[in-house]
Amino acid sequence: MTTVLVTGGAGFIGSNLVRYLRREHRDWRIFNIDKLTYAGNLNNLAGIEVGPDYSFVQGDVADGAMLSRVWARRRIKYVFHLAAETHVDRSLKDAVPFVRANIEGTAVLLDLARTEGVEKFIYMSTDEVYGAVPRGSDEVFTEDSPLKPRNPYSATKAGADLLCQVAHASHDMPVVIVRAANNYGPYQHPEKFLPLMLTNLMQGRKVPVYGTGQQMRDWLFVDDTCKALVGLAERAEPGSIYNLSGSGLIPNIELARKVLDVMRLEEEENLKMIADRPGHDFSYPLNADKIERELNIRTETRLDDGLRRTVFWYRNNEDWWRPIREGRFKDYYKEQYSEL
Ligand code: NAD
Ligand code: TYD
Repeated sequence: MTTVLVTGGAGFIGSNLVRYLRREHRDWRIFNIDKLTYAGNLNNLAGIEVGPDYSFVQGDVADGAMLSRVWARRRIKYVFHLAAETHVDRSLKDAVPFVRANIEGTAVLLDLARTEGVEKFIYMSTDEVYGAVPRGSDEVFTEDSPLKPRNPYSATKAGADLLCQVAHASHDMPVVIVRAANNYGPYQHPEKFLPLMLTNLMQGRKVPVYGTGQQMRDWLFVDDTCKALVGLAERAEPGSIYNLSGSGLIPNIELARKVLDVMRLEEEENLKMIADRPGHDFSYPLNADKIERELNIRTETRLDDGLRRTVFWYRNNEDWWRPIREGRFKDYYKEQYSEL
């Protein structure tokens, strides 16, 4: 019997991972711990019933006493550690929750995983830990590139990434780190660029593009991430680090144009360039050859296909995103997008 712990399993990638495991590894037992912050949402898990094969605990991964109580006797084989504060714009306003969840949370979880013993501890890191390359640079990040984060979100992700490396170096913990590109797909909170675009357009609002829109991101469909996470748990060597890229870098403005195209909307009426994000990272060019070469893990979804599927999903799941848009997110939106 394989029992896995998913932290942050009520968030975007975490809930997709729970669904993926339910589909592809029906005999695995899933234990989901999530604090249910503003980003956590039990509606992401609608249809996943609590029972012998799936349990959920609402709790903070930085709370060691709670963790050790619920962990006891579960014999967890793989940890998928995804719980984190994740939005760069929010981190630029207040870094403290990021330090607590991302750094302290990871330290507490690592300590407990060491005491309890696990076969693999997968840490979901990000390409943003490398920092960004400036426009015109031909630098590409490999797993050996130095970590030079440039915003509080990525700084705390880098802190946790280092704690994971250190847990392997000092205690021989079977940690595996994956540094992934920008994920997209169903159940992503509307604060992030792609679902913000979709839900704005579906409400007749404009898409806010920061700065000139020339910054680039590499888009990775969430199912590809879930598949990679399981491959890493099953096959990666303890102590290893892998980059995970998506469909290739594309400027934000081009992504917005693609979305408008899929939705058959005109650019002039539906895009608005607004003030840039402070210190906006230009791009994170990844060399992700290692994961394919060593583990035969490939990301397969082409951006056009993934985008069509994502637009379709948001169109058909207004019942999911409407309550988020109309809840406390409204205050954040008003402040963040006062120019719209
Ligand atoms: P998300 O914001 O949608 O979900 C995060 C989840 O973690 C939420 O359900 C939240 O309630 C939970 N959480 C936050 N703090 C917690 C705490 N202290 N204890 C327990 N639960 C807590 O994020 P996501 O996009 O699903 O990202 C998941 C992970 O993947 C994060 O670690 C993120 O840094 C990493 N990552 C994300 C991307 C991306 O593009 N989304 C890319 C690379 C890496
Ligand atoms: P985001 O989804 O916040 O992810 P990250 O900053 O972690 O890469 O943003 C993706 C890109 O889109 C990033 O370059 C910032 C840009 N962006 C906008 O232009 N407008 C927006 O309203 C948001 C949220 C992001």
